[in-house]
Amino acid sequence: MNIVTGAGGFLGTELAQAIFETGGDVVCLDLAAEPSAPNWKDVQTAATTHSAQLSYYSLDVTNKSAVSATFATFLPTLRYPVRGLVACAGLSRNPAWRTSGRGIICCCG
Ligand SMILES: NC(=O)c1ccc[n+]([C@@H]2O[C@H](COP(=O)([O-])OP(=O)(O)OC[C@H]3O[C@@H](n4cnc5c(N)ncnc54)[C@H](O)[C@@H]3O)[C@@H](O)[C@H]2O)c1
Repeated sequence: MNIVTGAGGFLGTELAQAIFETGGDVVCLDLAAEPSAPNWKDVQTAATTHSAQLSYYSLDVTNKSAVSATFATFLPTLRYPVRGLVACAGLSRNPAWRTSGRGIICCCG
C-alpha cells in the first residue's frame, strides 16, 4: 500500500495508476474536497482493473494536525501495511496536463 500526496495533480495521478499496475493499493491525498483531475476516471479504472483499493482524502500536507487526523482515519481501513509514500504535492506551472503520455516508471510497489 502506498500513499500519494498531490494525488489530484499530474504526477500524482500518473503515479497512482503506475502503482495499481504493479499490484499496489493507493491512498490519494490532495487539497480539493473531491478529486477533480481530468484523468481521475483513469485512476479509478486502473484501480478496478487491478482489483486494487483506491481511496481519496482531502488534506493539506502542511497542516500537521490535519495530517495526524487523516492518517488516523485511513490507516484502519487499509488491507495491507503502508510500504511507501510518494510526495507529489507541490506547486507546478508546467504544461504537463496538455502534453502527457504514460511515461512514469513505477519505483514502488
Ligand atoms: N510534472 C513534472 O514533469 C515535474 C517535474 C519535476 C518536478 N515537478 C514537481 O513535482 C510537483 C508535482 O508536479 P505536478 O506536475 O504533478 O503538479 P500539479 O500542479 O499537477 O499537481 C500538484 C498537486 O499538489 C497539490 N498540492 C499543492 N499543495 C498541497 C498541499 N499543501 N497539500 C496537499 N496537496 C497539495 C495540488 O492541489 C495539486 O493537485 C511540483 O512541485 C512540480 O514542480 C514536476
